[in-house]
Amino acid sequence: MLRSFELLKRKLEKAEKKGEDSVKIKLKKKGIRVDNENSLSQREFVDVKDYMKVITCKSGKLVFNEDVVYVYPLERNPTWGALAPIVELPETQEIFVRGDRVWITIGGKRFRVYIKNFEPEKTINRLVIKSGAQIDYSKPQSEAEIDGWRLYFKLPLISGDVEMTATKIANIPRLCKIVNPVLAARLLMMVLRPSVVAIIGPAGSGKTTLLSSLLKEIIAFFPHLRISVIEQVREIYLGDVSNIAYSKAGPNTPITMLIRQSMRYERPDILVLGELRGEEIWSWVEAGRLGIAALTTYHSPDAKKAVFSMAELMRQSIHDATVETVMQLIDCIIVMKKFLIGGAIRREVEGVYFTHDDKLVALYKRGIHASEERFKSLFPERVMVGDFNVVYRFLKRKIQESDF
Ligand SMILES: Nc1ncnc2c1ncn2[C@@H]1O[C@H](COP(=O)(O)OP(=O)(O)OP(=O)(O)O)[C@@H](O)[C@H]1O
Ligand SMILES: [Mg+2]
Repeated sequence: MLRSFELLKRKLEKAEKKGEDSVKIKLKKKGIRVDNENSLSQREFVDVKDYMKVITCKSGKLVFNEDVVYVYPLERNPTWGALAPIVELPETQEIFVRGDRVWITIGGKRFRVYIKNFEPEKTINRLVIKSGAQIDYSKPQSEAEIDGWRLYFKLPLISGDVEMTATKIANIPRLCKIVNPVLAARLLMMVLRPSVVAIIGPAGSGKTTLLSSLLKEIIAFFPHLRISVIEQVREIYLGDVSNIAYSKAGPNTPITMLIRQSMRYERPDILVLGELRGEEIWSWVEAGRLGIAALTTYHSPDAKKAVFSMAELMRQSIHDATVETVMQLIDCIIVMKKFLIGGAIRREVEGVYFTHDDKLVALYKRGIHASEERFKSLFPERVMVGDFNVVYRFLKRKIQESDF
């Protein structure tokens, strides 16, 4: 196995040097390829594509090819066993194991995983013991934490196979580490107005991180507020606070249904949609109409483009939705940017816009804030948690305190 790695690596290096998009390797024996529909075909050659990647880490190697990852563990990891190379990869967000089938999520993308010498029962039993999960036949599903991962186990008696879901718990930075104190207080006020807020920006620009950070401060200052978090991929962890309800979409539980159910039964003050992707935009903005603060993240390079493409999403179900419809239903757009400076990634809030009379009004743009009068003019006398002036003063004071 290791020899074929060396071969693959050399071929890749050669292809990279020549700038080739694709290079074929002739197999010694005919290989069998199983595609997504489980049909088999025999192949004499394999394509080493430009997006095929080999990653070597301490505990093993990972080979990426389209939507498949092959894992070759090199050491016996006492906790994670053959899953160690996946856990070691910093970008891994989720690992799903069901019987001997494994999937992972990396940067929001799902991959099928094939692991050499994988013993699922042994690996999962060891993780149950090491994480101290309380699981037995009277309680066949259980949650636990280990090494910065949240684990969820199910015994085969529930679903016919042993199951584990592992989700990486990301560290949420304090809001003042991301934005300056003036903006921190204003963004929190914006949520509490209540507003429909979309945090937009390119992939990996820190949208989810800013969203989590805003929520973390709100929970710390106003613990009585009820928050519902609805996601496709679980990324937002605000701790086990009793006033938070988490839901994760699945094949039989689409996002739109979860949002509607959440508004009806959980009665949140703040509704959080992890990422806006499609026609669920309508149920998300509906929250705003009901006086609930509605927050989400959305892939888009700038505020104008975000408004255009959101109108497009709305038109998927209501044909006459326009840019003006978006402007009327969404109150605030926060624009994140990602820069690469001297090899280091910097993420920051580039602008904050308020929608007013079908226009985008800048509240903040590259270091410049709108005046205090302008900011106040956007608010009613009372916000979700009390009088505007009292709450705004309280937040500004808290933010000045050193422990913020
Ligand atoms: N302010 C920050 N300080 C340090 N690290 C950060 C910060 N913001 C984001 N990151 C890191 O950058 C990575 C991407 O951040 P995040 O997931 O928040 O981006 P995103 O815009 O939501 O990405 P996606 O488009 O994939 O949803 C994460 O690993 C996160 O921990
Ligand atoms: Mg995100």
